[in-house]
This record gives sequence, structure tokens and C-alpha cells, in this order.
Amino acid sequence: MTWSVGAGLEGRGVIVTGAAGGMGRPVVDAFASTGARVMAVDLHQAAVDEVVAGLDGDGHIAVGADLTDIDGHDALVARARSELGNVFVLAHLAAVLRRRDSIDQVTEADWDFQVDTNLKAGFFLCRAAADAMKDQGEGGRIVAFTSQGWWTGGFGGSVVYSASKGGIVSMVRGLARTYGPDQITVNAVSPGMVDTPMLMDGLQPEVLESLRTATPLGRVADPAELAGTVVFLASDHASFISGATINVSGAMLMY
Ligand SMILES: NC(=O)c1ccc[n+]([C@@H]2O[C@H](COP(=O)([O-])OP(=O)(O)OC[C@H]3O[C@@H](n4cnc5c(N)ncnc54)[C@H](O)[C@@H]3O)[C@@H](O)[C@H]2O)c1
Repeated sequence: MTWSVGAGLEGRGVIVTGAAGGMGRPVVDAFASTGARVMAVDLHQAAVDEVVAGLDGDGHIAVGADLTDIDGHDALVARARSELGNVFVLAHLAAVLRRRDSIDQVTEADWDFQVDTNLKAGFFLCRAAADAMKDQGEGGRIVAFTSQGWWTGGFGGSVVYSASKGGIVSMVRGLARTYGPDQITVNAVSPGMVDTPMLMDGLQPEVLESLRTATPLGRVADPAELAGTVVFLASDHASFISGATINVSGAMLMY
């Protein structure tokens, strides 16, 4: 094995979802800098075009797609395979959080929106990507994003989001068992507080301050601080890590 940050990723095809989001952008950047070819997927074409412009290396592609359209997943993965040459990694970050003040304000539409995006789309996309990896016969890496809420359960207004993220952890464990024989590793990354639109939009300053002080490192993470974990899990250095949930929370929670 050659020891380098992106060991094994050069020339590999990588799909990153949520690629125009706070953490998605540095994850795309990090993969491009390893010599991988990246398909950046997010809701709006113009946003992912901007993410891909100026990346290191060439052969990257930008795809505007709504991942709740499950029927579109096979075509998305097929396009990645044909245009990137192969699909070795799926880094699935796309998710939504609909914060409510209390549990009584949570509607059925809130449930469907968050569970359909965060969990249902995640399951079917992981399966479509794993099918391609199996067919290629070279193994693969799936990295899905959960949240500290998988462990804490969140609060009244974010129970649904937390439940969807708990589902991600269970799903990752099940997929790790399912795809292990094909040398496809499946892991979750669990961020603490990260400075992105998802955390900051609509968050009261006093709540942000209490979260900051509950984090022993004493600060909210820069989004780029999560990218290294994703690249590591996709690299040769993590080839025997599967079914894990990697806690990247500045010691906010310890597990
Ligand atoms: N920011 C935090 O503090 C924090 C903490 C814990 C977990 N997370 C998780 O980290 C991941 C990245 O979050 P972020 O903070 O970068 O959020 P973000 O809101 O900045 O980015 C999420 C991206 O997902 C995209 N997306 C949403 N629905 C989609 C759909 N149906 N199809 C395609 N794309 C869709 C959005 O357009 C957005 O660009 C998420 O899974 C999130 O749940 C974030």
C-alpha cells in the first residue's frame, strides 16, 4: 500500500450528493485533489456547475437532480459509471432538516419530506451504487451522513430528522453486512455542529452559543474539517472499516 491521503482513489469514480451544500463542497474538493473523478449531485444544476468549475484534475461532472425521484437513481449511477469510467465511492450527504418549535407543530408533510429525502432516497441510492460496484467486481466504498441526533434523539421539533438519521445508522450496519462479501465497505459519518446553512438557518443565537459551549473543543467546526474523514473512509487506509459510525463532534458526544 502506498501511504498518501487519498490512497487508492486516483482515477476512481466518486459520486458526492449534497455537493452544493456546506459540507458537500469541501468533500468534492477533497476527492478531486486525490486524483479521483467526481460526479457532484445536488438539486440545482447551476449550483453544482459552480462547484465543479475550478476543481483540480479533469473529468468531473455536475448533475442537478432531486434524489427523492427514486426512479432516477439507476440512470444517475449509470451515467457516473460511463462518464467517470467507474463508480468506486458514493458519499451521500444530501439531507434536509425542518426545525419546528415543538412536537405539536410537526406535520405529516414534515415527516414525509425529511424521511423521504434523508432515509428513503439514501437507501435506494446506496443500493443502486452497490449494484454497480458489485458488477464492476473491484469492491467499493459507501459513506453516508448521519447526525448526533441519531444518538440523542434530538428535541421535540427535530425528532423526525433525528429518527431519519437513526435510520441511516441502522441502514449502514445492514448494508455493511449485505455488501461485505463484495468488498464494499459501508460507513456513517456523524458530524457535531458544523458551520453550514443547515445548522445556521433559523437557529437562535443563544441556542448556537449553548451548543458551542457543550462542545469541548469550544467551537463549531469548519465544513472542511469533515472532508478528511470522508476521504479516509473511501481510501485504502480504511479498507477493513465497515459498519462503523465515525463521530466527528469535537467531543460534544463521546462514543
Ligand atoms: N451542519 C451540521 O451541523 C450537521 C450536523 C450533523 C449532521 N449533518 C449532516 O451532514 C450532511 C451535510 O449537511 P450540510 O450541513 O452540508 O447541509 P446543507 O443544507 O448545507 O447541504 C445539504 C445539501 O443537500 C441538498 N439536498 C437536499 N435535498 C436534496 C434532494 N432531494 N436531492 C438532491 N440534493 C438534495 C441541498 O440542496 C443541500 O445543498 C447532511 O446529511 C446533514 O444531515 C449536518
